[in-house]
Amino acid sequence: MDSSLETLIDQCRNSLTDAAQNPENNWKLFTVANVGVDGLPQSRYVVLRGADFSDKAEIVFFTDERSNKVPALLKNKKVSLCFFDRESGLQVEMKADVTVHNGDEVSKVHWESTSWYSLQCYYMKELPGEELKAPFILNPDDLNEEEAYQFFTVVKCQVNSWDILKLKKTGNERAHCTFNREGKVQTASWLAP
Ligand SMILES: Cc1cc2nc3c(=O)[nH]c(=O)nc-3n(C[C@H](O)[C@H](O)[C@H](O)COP(=O)(O)O)c2cc1C
Repeated sequence: MDSSLETLIDQCRNSLTDAAQNPENNWKLFTVANVGVDGLPQSRYVVLRGADFSDKAEIVFFTDERSNKVPALLKNKKVSLCFFDRESGLQVEMKADVTVHNGDEVSKVHWESTSWYSLQCYYMKELPGEELKAPFILNPDDLNEEEAYQFFTVVKCQVNSWDILKLKKTGNERAHCTFNREGKVQTASWLAP
């Protein structure tokens, strides 16, 4: 791999690590696309909760166990994740396989280390997507912690590849790389944009 490609991959790695902790980083929000249980494509924005490309290749987000995406991800674990940062002009599209964690050690660790602010959306008795007579109002007192925790779900994405696009006035740069389970880059090459 040439050194400029290595530098680009490192830049993405560092930005993801920062975004997992830093709400100001534009990669804090990303889209997750997958195939629904009806066979149709579906996508939505989620918050980046974890990014580890040191000794694994993993992206983590949280969701509600009752949301549409959970049965879909259990049926078909293939996802496409897409990150874009307007400031750096960097887009990274990732292919990954998910594992869904609910009521296990993984979800417990995240529940205990996440702020109340980020967890309050799980204190909801209504089903996500349920029809309502009036706009939804959150009443966190409706549920106790044990009840809310039942809905808290951690999705771990085992990332297999990155497709990187860097916008440049002089001509956009594009690269593709693949990862092994230990987070080591297996193949990397420049592509035409
Ligand atoms: C800025 C933003 C952040 C969001 N973060 C999350 C998130 O971290 N997890 C999540 O499940 N939904 C999140 N959502 C809501 C999803 O985009 C989506 O509306 C919801 O999860 C229902 O999707 P589904 O019906 O495809 O399961 C977020 C939405 C926005 C606009």
